[in-house]
Amino acid sequence: MPNLVCQPKIRGMPGLLVVDNLAHTYPDGTKALRGVSLTLTRGEIVSVIGLSGAGKSTLLRCINGLVHPTGGSVEFDGQAVGWDAGSLRYLRRKIAMIFQHFNLIGNLSVLSNVLMGRLSYQSCWMQPLYSFSKRDREIAVTALDRVGLLNEWDKRASELSGGQQQRVGVARALAQEPRLLLADEPVSSLDPLTADTVLGHFVKIVRQEGLAALINLHAVELARKYSDRILGVREGRCVWQGPPDDLTTPVLKRIYGEEYDG
Ligand SMILES: Nc1ncnc2c1ncn2[C@@H]1O[C@H](COP(=O)(O)OP(=O)(O)O)[C@@H](O)[C@H]1O
Ligand SMILES: [Mg+2]
Repeated sequence: MPNLVCQPKIRGMPGLLVVDNLAHTYPDGTKALRGVSLTLTRGEIVSVIGLSGAGKSTLLRCINGLVHPTGGSVEFDGQAVGWDAGSLRYLRRKIAMIFQHFNLIGNLSVLSNVLMGRLSYQSCWMQPLYSFSKRDREIAVTALDRVGLLNEWDKRASELSGGQQQRVGVARALAQEPRLLLADEPVSSLDPLTADTVLGHFVKIVRQEGLAALINLHAVELARKYSDRILGVREGRCVWQGPPDDLTTPVLKRIYGEEYDG
C-alpha cells in the first residue's frame, strides 16, 4: 500500500507542524504507525479519517508527546520536538487537545475546568486553583464567552448537556492560548445534529483565531463539510490526502476497504 507524503495545501507556506515518517510500535508489538508524514500549515483545518484501529489516536498522541514515537520526527513551529521536560512543557502550552469524552472534572465548576487550560503556565503545577492569576481568569472568561457559555460559568460541569460539555472542552483548549488544536473524535459522543453544531462552531473559532487544527473524525460527511484537507489513514499509513471534493467512493474504498458502501 502506498504511503503518501501529505504536503501542505499552500505550497511555499512554512509548515506549522511537520511530521516525518512517524512510527509507533506499542510495547506489546502492535505497529500502530508505520511511517506517517504530513505537514500542517498555519490556518489549516485537516481531518484524519480511517477505520477504528487505523492509528489516528496514536498519531495525535505522538504529536503532543503523550506517546513517544519509536521512529520518525515531529517539528513544531520550526523546532524539532524532543521528549525532554522542556520540549514537553512547550508542547503542552502551544498544542491543545480536545477529547471524545470531554475529560472534564464533573464536580468542578465550568470556569474551574476552563482554568485547567492555564495549568501549563503555572510555575508549579500543584498550586491550588485559587492561585490562578487575574490574567489567567480573564483569559478563561474570554474563552468561555467565545463558546457562548459565560452564563453557565458557576454551574458544575456535570450539569451541562454533552454538547455544552464539549464546548467547555473547546474553551479549556482556547484558554491554553495554543497555536495548534488536536481533536480526537471530538463529536463522536454527541447526537448527529449536536455534533454538526459543535464542530461547526469549533471550526469557526479556529478560523477566526487563525489557529490550525488536526481533527480525527469518525463521520466522513463532517470531514467533508469542515476540512480544508483530509488525510486517509489505514493500517498505520497515510494512504490518501486531498481536498474534500476529491474524496470519491473509490478513494473511500482505498481508506476503508472494498466493503465500504457509504
Ligand atoms: N496502549 C496500547 N497498547 C497496545 N496497542 C494499542 C494501544 N493503543 C492502541 N493500540 C493499538 O494500536 C492500533 C492503532 O490504535 P489507535 O491509534 O487507537 O487507532 P484509531 O484511533 O484509528 O482507532 C490498534 O491496533 C490498537 O489496538
Ligand atoms: Mg481513536
